[in-house]
Amino acid sequence: MLNAREQFFNGGNGDGSVAAGLGLGIEITEYGVSNGGRVYNTTTVPMTSASSWRTTTTTTNSTGNATASTTPSSAQVSSSAVVTKTPLEPVAEEDVHFDTDALSNLPARDPVDIEFKELSLTVNLGFNRGSKEILHNVNGKFPGSQLIAIMGPSGAGKSTLLDALSGFKTTGVDGSILLNGRRRDLPSFRRMSCYITQDDRLQPLLTVNENMHIAADLKLGENVSYEEKETRIEDILLLLGLYDHDQTLTMRLSGGQKKRLSIAMELINNPTVMFLDEPTTGLDSSSCTKVLELLKKLTSQGRTIICTIHQPTAKLFQIFDQVYVLSAGNCVYQGGTEKLVPFLQAVDLPCPMYHNPADYIIELACGEYGYDKIDTLKSATENGSCLTWFNNPSAVMRAETLMRKNPIPRRTKTRSLENTSYTNQCSVLLRRGYIKAKRDTTMTHLRIGVNIAVAILFGAIYDHTGAEGSRVLDNYNLLFAILMHHSMTTMMLTVLTFPIEMSILLKEHFNRWYSLKAYYTSMTLVDLPISIISCFLFTAIIYLWSYQPMEWVRFWMFFAISLLTVFVGHSFGLMIGAWFDVTNGTFLAPVLTIPQMMFAGFGVTLRDLPSYLKWGSHVSYLRYGLEGFIAAIYGLDRGVLPCDEAPYCHYRYPKKFLEEITMSGDQFWNDVLALSAMTVIFRLISFIVLKAKIKSVR
Ligand SMILES: Nc1ncnc2c1ncn2[C@@H]1O[C@H](COP(=O)(O)OP(=O)(O)OP(=O)(O)O)[C@@H](O)[C@H]1O
Ligand SMILES: [Mg+2]
Repeated sequence: MLNAREQFFNGGNGDGSVAAGLGLGIEITEYGVSNGGRVYNTTTVPMTSASSWRTTTTTTNSTGNATASTTPSSAQVSSSAVVTKTPLEPVAEEDVHFDTDALSNLPARDPVDIEFKELSLTVNLGFNRGSKEILHNVNGKFPGSQLIAIMGPSGAGKSTLLDALSGFKTTGVDGSILLNGRRRDLPSFRRMSCYITQDDRLQPLLTVNENMHIAADLKLGENVSYEEKETRIEDILLLLGLYDHDQTLTMRLSGGQKKRLSIAMELINNPTVMFLDEPTTGLDSSSCTKVLELLKKLTSQGRTIICTIHQPTAKLFQIFDQVYVLSAGNCVYQGGTEKLVPFLQAVDLPCPMYHNPADYIIELACGEYGYDKIDTLKSATENGSCLTWFNNPSAVMRAETLMRKNPIPRRTKTRSLENTSYTNQCSVLLRRGYIKAKRDTTMTHLRIGVNIAVAILFGAIYDHTGAEGSRVLDNYNLLFAILMHHSMTTMMLTVLTFPIEMSILLKEHFNRWYSLKAYYTSMTLVDLPISIISCFLFTAIIYLWSYQPMEWVRFWMFFAISLLTVFVGHSFGLMIGAWFDVTNGTFLAPVLTIPQMMFAGFGVTLRDLPSYLKWGSHVSYLRYGLEGFIAAIYGLDRGVLPCDEAPYCHYRYPKKFLEEITMSGDQFWNDVLALSAMTVIFRLISFIVLKAKIKSVR
């Protein structure tokens, strides 16, 4: 069974197909400066003026062209700004150039010291299985402006410690976490920190630039001007060596570039504390060095960067300021990277000559040299309380000193964790949804294509059935086939694609990019035009080709029922997609549709249903769909049908046919009402399920 963190990071479905980081925005109160009368969103860091951001007198217009006098650093910025804005092929990682001058444009942060005492984390193993403690009263201190590595063998609890410290995991966490000596206030900590996961959960169909703009619009809000956002984006892209790829689709980026894009998106609101889970896994050694060097540079501006890492090379290991080694949920070393060898010497476990100390401590932590050594190390570090092996132990401030040095952070009045308003979130998400829909081959192009193709196929098979008295039963079959097409295609498409979308939703929602309500609203609205267009094309083709009655009112009735069936199918799929993973969803969706078919009144008429199963027909949306179609085609007192193709037409009187199938043909509005109600109910349930799912992974 997947644990909560795995569920979260794998999109709750265990497929792990898409991934990304978690960004948490920024505490504003301490930086609540306004710039030239500009009003900044109260929960975002105000952009420093374009000049201070860029540290030059350069003014940068929206197209990225820089003008006017510049310092050497901005000259570099301006020249690169003019050169490339065209789509480029991804370059090899070796060619990446990090523009460290751009770093000076990122506003510096006041360092934050993180300390944890007697921290334990217990997980519930499920019904009747008890619980398991993963972290065992560990202690630690991560001073500000440092790059800290959390190391240890696989399963030691590195990611769990990161989850607990970042506030991602709150259930089962015991002990105290202090920020600058004070107890951590989770909402404000979430505003000032970000969490970048191992896998990059990014929107694949958006370019780097579009992803950055969406992140900026959601994190910085409408009060920050476009030019300022553009300037910040340019600087970050230059800093991370992504500027030349800003027109490249995210799905075409290399692994290292995706990793850097994840970091870039979180840097937009300039977090003070950054948590990264295995930022170097999957990267070649040169990319690893570059990512770590970049992180190291970011710490120079007051950021505290904590990342988990697997067996770094000696060269990579040296880049870190401090290292925290875990072994089966206990601390076996905490201190400077340079002090590791003296520490091992002091505990009588000297690192062999020509042996990478990082490798050696992990071997010790694995128990390769005996489990008694782990106990020796644990007691030597006092499970993380011992500060002797810090680079400069005398400079490490006690909690009281830190409290005195740092004023009490001002509390923000807003309860919402998101940085921008609901309407801004909706409009940005709608914009993103529109871009995605335009490029999405499955959800848009294939869906429209399939609707046209199936309509043509049905048209060819059921040619003329709507107008011929001898083919009423064929037409009835056609109506049911259309109903199945509308409900199944949208349902299955949603069941198959939503879990992937869900993984991004989980990450971005935890990142405080937007509320679930805004996401849900925009998702519903983005789907509307595609549903309407594909349904209309299908209806027009099949209606004309099968010679249904040429009356506008009947056509619109037919279209309305088709569209409502599409909506119900989509909502039903959403409910299943939100609840189950792709495998279970793909199995369950058709299985749950079969009883709906049985109760639709097709095959077994509503009259012939056993009385104790009659309720089934009231909850079957296919029944309302079928009844609605019958009302549109054979209701409204339709006249006698022509009987040209056979000597005898049993159902040439529509009334007779209606009697036979026990439908009255005048239930159209009731059917519309029932289908609408079902859409709303399924949507509500999906929303509740989504909300519960988001809660459950924490
Ligand atoms: N919800 C859970 N239920 C049961 N066990 C869990 C749960 N979450 C974590 N664990 C266990 O806790 C231990 C630590 O897990 P964690 O993911 O923190 O390890 P890690 O050090 O990050 O390992 P890796 O280097 O492989 O990523 C593992 O043994 C894992 O199986
Ligand atoms: Mg891990």
